Amino acid sequence: MLFFLLLVFQANANAQIDPAHCRYPLGMEDGRIKDHDITASSQWYETTGPQYARLNREEGDGAWCPAGLLQPSDTQYLQVDLGQLTFLTVVGTQGRYARNSGKEFARMYRLNYSHDGQLWRSWRNRLGNKTMEANDNAYASVIKDLHPPIISRYLRLIPVTKMPTTVCMRLELYGCPWHDGLTSYSSPEGQLMMPPGYPIASLNDSTYDGAHERRKLSGGLGQLTDGVIGQDDFLRTRQYHVWPGYDYVGWRNGSLGSGYVEMEFVFDKQRNFTSMKVHSNNMFYRGVKIFSSVSCSFKPRLIANWEVEPVEFHTVLDDRNPSARYVTVPLGRRNAKALRCRFHFADVWMMFSEISFQSADTVIPTQITPVVTSPWPKEESSLPTTHKTATNPSAKDQPDDGNTPILIGCLVTIILLLVVIIFLILWCQYVCKVLEKAPRRILEEEVTVRLSSSSDTIILQTPPVPPRVSQMDHPYERVFLLDPQYQDPAGLRNKLPELSQSAETSACGGGYAEPDVTQCTPHQCFQSSVPHYAETDIVSLQGVTGSNMYAVPALTVDSLTRKDISVAEFPRHRLLFREKLGEGQFGEVHLCEAEGLPEFLGEGAPLPDRDGRPVLVAVKQLRADATNNARYDFLKEIKIMSRLNDPNIIQLLCVCVSSDPLCMVTEYMDNGDLNMFLSQREMESTLTHANNIPSVSLSDLLHMSVQISSGMRYLASLNFVHRDLATRNCLLDRRLTIKIADFGMSRNLYSSDYYRIQGRAVLPIRWMAWESILLGKFTTASDVWAFGVTLWEIFTLCKEQPYSLLSDEQVIENTGEFFRNQGRQIFLFAPPLCPPSLFELMMRCWDRDIADRPTFEGLYQALRPHVVQ
Ligand SMILES: *[C@@H]1O[C@H](CO)[C@@H](O)[C@H](O)[C@H]1NC(C)=O
Ligand SMILES: *[C@@H]1O[C@H](CO)[C@@H](O)[C@H](O)[C@H]1NC(C)=O
Ligand SMILES: *[C@@H]1O[C@H](CO)[C@@H](O)[C@H](O)[C@H]1NC(C)=O
Ligand SMILES: *[C@@H]1O[C@H](CO)[C@@H](O)[C@H](O)[C@H]1NC(C)=O
Ligand SMILES: *[C@@H]1O[C@H](CO)[C@@H](O)[C@H](O)[C@H]1NC(C)=O
Repeated sequence: MLFFLLLVFQANANAQIDPAHCRYPLGMEDGRIKDHDITASSQWYETTGPQYARLNREEGDGAWCPAGLLQPSDTQYLQVDLGQLTFLTVVGTQGRYARNSGKEFARMYRLNYSHDGQLWRSWRNRLGNKTMEANDNAYASVIKDLHPPIISRYLRLIPVTKMPTTVCMRLELYGCPWHDGLTSYSSPEGQLMMPPGYPIASLNDSTYDGAHERRKLSGGLGQLTDGVIGQDDFLRTRQYHVWPGYDYVGWRNGSLGSGYVEMEFVFDKQRNFTSMKVHSNNMFYRGVKIFSSVSCSFKPRLIANWEVEPVEFHTVLDDRNPSARYVTVPLGRRNAKALRCRFHFADVWMMFSEISFQSADTVIPTQITPVVTSPWPKEESSLPTTHKTATNPSAKDQPDDGNTPILIGCLVTIILLLVVIIFLILWCQYVCKVLEKAPRRILEEEVTVRLSSSSDTIILQTPPVPPRVSQMDHPYERVFLLDPQYQDPAGLRNKLPELSQSAETSACGGGYAEPDVTQCTPHQCFQSSVPHYAETDIVSLQGVTGSNMYAVPALTVDSLTRKDISVAEFPRHRLLFREKLGEGQFGEVHLCEAEGLPEFLGEGAPLPDRDGRPVLVAVKQLRADATNNARYDFLKEIKIMSRLNDPNIIQLLCVCVSSDPLCMVTEYMDNGDLNMFLSQREMESTLTHANNIPSVSLSDLLHMSVQISSGMRYLASLNFVHRDLATRNCLLDRRLTIKIADFGMSRNLYSSDYYRIQGRAVLPIRWMAWESILLGKFTTASDVWAFGVTLWEIFTLCKEQPYSLLSDEQVIENTGEFFRNQGRQIFLFAPPLCPPSLFELMMRCWDRDIADRPTFEGLYQALRPHVVQ
């Protein structure tokens, strides 16, 4: 049984390669790659020979330099023999620094690779470009992700230049051994799926590097071995700027005339195969299913006949769960150097995104390690326990006298063993599912590397990939910026729980209220010192619109729960409907007249003087059929709002919560919101005076800015994170008093200000700090960022949306530039009306380093003197 267990574990632990993890330095810097394995087409001097092309090392004259000036038409190369087939994911290059005496570097390079050192292929990225950007100074190392990765033993780095120059290079390669040993596969060409009413899915193997003849691919590797697993919906892709269906290679039954797809796999040497894992789509309602059966034949040598006896495997078809999945095909421990498998259609379409092979020369114990050291101790410990409790009784049974008891004992043992086996199979399936889905521990540098995926570049002074103890890590989902889960901060939090934990426990974790006094350098502080609540302490509240979220310390909520809601219940029938102001997923906002509200609230009511006119209020109302969660959140929002009391924050006046629908009644500001107000106005001038055009003066704008900073200062003092500060959320009354509210998202008017992902998350990305978009961190410092954007809106008189020239996707990509901080981020321009000192203040709000942004108190103090009293 133990053997059986090992098998099960092996099949699951020995998972296919994971490019996001396979990023170990391969030994240029630390010398594991020997001098004689590094060669070059030429060298300038002995002291700039290929053996000196080691990243971050300064031996010889500090780098490899090919002889002479490199001409644009030249092909010089540095060649590295890695000694075995390797899955290469990252290349790091550097120029010749030589303790500040060198200044040569290469701006661009290409890569060639080879399995055998004879046949060379050019690497190209997923869009077909062969050229990679490299260095622009002699010292910084530039780390480039290879998309797609390269599987090879030999690699050539070919510097490229546009003008004749001297180039010198240092290099590190990152990756891991290619245990699959697969050197090529052949298959029929993938096809186009053109269903009516859906986008065309192009299911070709677009990175295949072998021959492409008569609708057949042969002699190469491609998307089926690039480590990228397709999603459940084959139309959605993991890559940027590619077509629907990109991640899959797919075929249509009937087009091949045989009812199956035949693929041949060739390996580096004879191997003893345990299994093959085929990642297959199963979107049955679109006519896609995993294969119904597969039969594989074996060949011990390339020049030999296929062995007569194939291995057959029938799958269990599943037309309930449309998830893409790995289908594991046992290969019966047969020896072979080549395999031919026929995958039989179970439906009209069959689509694979990845195929991997497990062969017995991978040692079993190392594969068990990750399960043992996995961060799920509870489930593991349950394994030995169940094992024991199940077998102990049987052990006791056996010493009994007589034959019958022994027989019974044996039977019981067998039955128990069977039960345990079945249990273990089920358990294993469950655990493996969990393992494959489970969020992993994400270290800072991994985030660094992965966040680079949008442009594949990061520059670091030190190697970014720390050596790891174990190469076997748990599979996990890769981070894709446009993946809806990452757009939804709550989703991100779930996904990266350790991210917040590490921030929490970090020594850098400055207090929330004093973001400016953290003691670490900006680099260390990149995540850890972010002044913020430990994410676990944040309670997310969904407002009536179902989209606006507040973050407040859980403590506050608890202490509020102990007390009563401090606002009174208003008789519902005295709210007279006037007009609908907006609506959202969970409710509506109405403009109502509140009969007798001043009397109801009594002395000192925060109501403007109405001169006898009816009191208008805004009434947020939860739909009667709202979910329990929405109700709960609505009540929580009431509790929090009821504690806010500031002249520049919209005030909760009363509630109707004794019966459905739940309502909260707030002040209504009769000048509408600031966005609307300003966009209808021009800057005050003689022209506007003469023509009676509605106008505002610079001092009006400053006065507004001061009020907003004052309201935000108040929220910040309560550690209240607004998350959606913008002019559309600032309301005005006739005297131009501003009150910050949160109705924005319920208003269709502004829907283009929010980035929607399949109706799930609705985020004001143009107002959001980079760390909110990329890491899901919402803090007072990210409110400060939004305040900067709000100021910018004010001084452009809301005539333009922020970054109006960028699409939503480009805005998100720009956030990546803020993160990378290489000076390529695009800032909002200085509004023409805006005094330079004020624009400087805005720029400080958009500081990449969270700790360097001003506080609201600081902003208030800086703005206030400008207001003419
Ligand atoms: C790189 O590979 C291409 C084939 O794709 C070949 O034509 C070229 O000569 C190779 N260059 C070097 C330097 O190996
Ligand atoms: C390929 O990439 C390089 C480096 O990023 C760039 O300079 C070049 O213009 C690209 N070529 C094409 C054809 O896109
Ligand atoms: C695959 O299909 C896409 C989209 O139809 C096309 O642009 C690309 O050139 C194709 N690639 C290959 C290798 O056939
Ligand atoms: C493959 O390896 C297993 C043990 O690891 C062995 O029992 C089996 O005979 C091997 N198969 C062949 C065909 O050599
Ligand atoms: C696939 O096509 C073959 C004929 O080419 C047909 O006999 C077979 O029934 C089809 N299978 C499915 C699942 O449609």
